[in-house]
Amino acid sequence: MFVRRVAVVGAGYVGLTSAACLASLGHHVVCADIDEKKVEQLRKAEVQIFEPGLTELVGEGIAAGRLEFVVGVRNAVPDAEVVFLCVPTPMGEGGAADLRAVEAAVAEMKDLLAPETVVVNKSTVPVGTAKRVLELLDRDDVFVASNPEFLREGSAVKDFMHPDRIVVGSDAQNAAERVSALYARLGAPTVLMDAASAELVKYSANCFLAMKLSYVNAMAELCERLGADIANVTEGMGFDQRIGQSFLQPGPGWGGSCLPKDTHALLQIAEAAGHEFELLQATINTNEKQSRLIISKIAQAVGGLRGKKLGLLGLAFKAGTNDLRDSPALKIAKMLKAEGAELVAYDPAIPAEVEGVTDDVTVVDDVQHAAKDANALVVLTEWPQFRSLDWAALAGAMTGQVVVDTRNLLDGDILTRAGLTSHGVGR
Ligand code: UDX
Repeated sequence: MFVRRVAVVGAGYVGLTSAACLASLGHHVVCADIDEKKVEQLRKAEVQIFEPGLTELVGEGIAAGRLEFVVGVRNAVPDAEVVFLCVPTPMGEGGAADLRAVEAAVAEMKDLLAPETVVVNKSTVPVGTAKRVLELLDRDDVFVASNPEFLREGSAVKDFMHPDRIVVGSDAQNAAERVSALYARLGAPTVLMDAASAELVKYSANCFLAMKLSYVNAMAELCERLGADIANVTEGMGFDQRIGQSFLQPGPGWGGSCLPKDTHALLQIAEAAGHEFELLQATINTNEKQSRLIISKIAQAVGGLRGKKLGLLGLAFKAGTNDLRDSPALKIAKMLKAEGAELVAYDPAIPAEVEGVTDDVTVVDDVQHAAKDANALVVLTEWPQFRSLDWAALAGAMTGQVVVDTRNLLDGDILTRAGLTSHGVGR
């Protein structure tokens, strides 16, 4: 196997996972970040990101001498054969991706790269960024490729090590082959293509997933009106191999650090290209509507929101993560608060002293506390442990007897036996 010297720029969620996994594949990886404190912590294998298996992998990489952490791009790139750009590309003005971090990293590395180096965009960037990076590098002896990641939070290490596919795009075939060779040991289907197509794959995949979820949420709404059960409908649909069983779970709307950002960015990209992407706009609109539908469902279940005390179960945008970015739970909390409800929230991954949760909710460290005197409990994140809570004890602590389960997570019979009335989505 080929052992390569790899630099990873950015020790965030994608960069750190990529660095640790590439080291575990046998490559020599130097991972750079601008945050000195973070680098200091990572050198001691202290990982602040909640990601199963990542801390262990970082520790193993350091111990094996294959994984190093440095401050600043200039200390990582001079020896590298491949440089991965894994810096943030947040949503900028009007929904387009903000590329300032990419541009700054490229400016810093341009005169330091060894000839033949391949600079790889791993961050989700607009179509045309590979070309732009090549211009910014302003060198004819280095290459640029796009290698989108498809890592889900909460299973990023697993997703990296067992990918459905590897996508590498470059207008220089040889550069794409060199990047894909880094992953040879994974034995995954590998698709090589031009840079623009590879850049579009990530957006296209994430927007398709968002569309699938908006479709399911809209179908759930229809099921409620028609007396059908969305779980039966999606199960029946999902056996069609062209559809598949996964990503068909209705909920409070999709969120997180990727889908909202990528749907808005692709809409921008399409608009700039003179293409009115109505289906994507409808996907976003349906998601906006979903939070409003959930609010009315809760209001109806408790007989109006003003002055009602609600215990929220879950704040993270999905189970298995402590990430609150674009969390539908927080959005719904804000709306409930605006309607006059009083909110106490419990999430197994979010401590009471968490920062970033606004004044909208009081966060507590135990679920019983969230249930105390509540008119209703509202499940917003699909943490599996919520299924086996002591529902009779929770019912005893509440003043109302209502549970709104926006994730269709709980066993209705258990709730009924505990004397609770449950309201799911699409059933
Ligand atoms: C997503 C993509 O899945 C991943 O490939 C990409 O690289 C980054 O974006 P992530 O943001 O970690 O990953 O979350 P994901 O598991 O895709 O969930 C996104 C949102 O959809 C969450 O809010 C989740 O709760 C919701 N969801 C997901 C549902 O409501 N129902 C489902 O069936 C699946």
